Amino acid sequence: MTRLRRFVPLASVALLLFLTACASNAPQDTLEPEGPIARKIDNLVNPVFLAAGVVFVLVEVGALLIMRRFRARPDDDDNTLPAQVHGNSALEIGWIAVPFLILAVIAVFTVVTVFEVDAEADDATMSVQVIGQQWWWEYRYDVDGDGRQDDPDDVVTANDLVIPAGTNVRLDVMSRDVIHSFWIPKLNGKKDAVPGRHHELTVASDEAGTFVGQCTEYCGLSHAYMRQRLIALPQDEFDAWLDNQQQDAQLPASGDANAGGNLFVSSCSRCHLIEGVNDDEYEEQGSGNDVVSGHAPNLTHFATRGAFAGAILPLWETDDPDGIVQWDDIGGELDRDALEAWLRDPPAEKPMAAELDGPSRGMPDLELSEEQIDQLVAFLETLD
Ligand code: CUA
Repeated sequence: MTRLRRFVPLASVALLLFLTACASNAPQDTLEPEGPIARKIDNLVNPVFLAAGVVFVLVEVGALLIMRRFRARPDDDDNTLPAQVHGNSALEIGWIAVPFLILAVIAVFTVVTVFEVDAEADDATMSVQVIGQQWWWEYRYDVDGDGRQDDPDDVVTANDLVIPAGTNVRLDVMSRDVIHSFWIPKLNGKKDAVPGRHHELTVASDEAGTFVGQCTEYCGLSHAYMRQRLIALPQDEFDAWLDNQQQDAQLPASGDANAGGNLFVSSCSRCHLIEGVNDDEYEEQGSGNDVVSGHAPNLTHFATRGAFAGAILPLWETDDPDGIVQWDDIGGELDRDALEAWLRDPPAEKPMAAELDGPSRGMPDLELSEEQIDQLVAFLETLD
């Protein structure tokens, strides 16, 4: 009885811990697929998990029963061994054959699913280059389809990957610095972004919506602050989005926004490009560790995105229970506090090694005055 009394609270704590891992509506739940590719994976995972669960229960219950049945008893003779099963052919062949058969069946379904998921790339209607960088994701759309992503008509954006809903989109996953991993759990499995390599991943969502994920390969100081957002839009809205992204921005003619634009050109051109505003002043920094920040997000249509700073900070106010800025929130009420805090001291919002000696990463503290911050916010808000 005392043993049981000790066991019950322990088991309750373990069960409680286990249940805290459950959520009915988690935004990054790979077990609730919202696209055809993720559903194929889910259709494989569920029966495999069930089989593994049944095996687990059978083995554990068997082990407990055997331990109980053959436990040492006070009147046992210490010098006699229990009956041995070594050489029992039926048993030995059985416990090799049964796992082999189970794994063989699972292997067949797994390989079929791998090929099916792979074949989804063939149905892709468009392709986007996905580039990981410490610590944010860049997306490049080869709009004219000539295989290059740097023509004037092509689109370069960051943090929000926008795709048409209901269609397969092929991603060309790359990295500029270290290994990252791209994963939108509700839409497909993950894919490593490796410097010097092109990895293919296809994503598709059933319906319009905003899907989130985060970098899943440890990539340095702010790995935990490197998120990704994928916005699926109805085809006509996607076309309008893409068309708008191709337009250049403009320096506002007057007011705070104009002052902010000029400040941007003079202070931010070393890293950030806004097409139509600082094309002449901007100098691409190349890649590698010998530069201040390598590439920085292209901000031409900054105000059409839901989040910034590696998608960790919301750009717009939202009612979403998980705090995920939705498509309809974009262009609504600016989350001024987040943007101001970022401009005031970026490394305070997101560790970026900017304060260390030698090569550093990410946006430094530019020691802007409150007036300059207001001007920059006014300017950035015009970039729609
Ligand atoms: Cu990028 Cu972890």
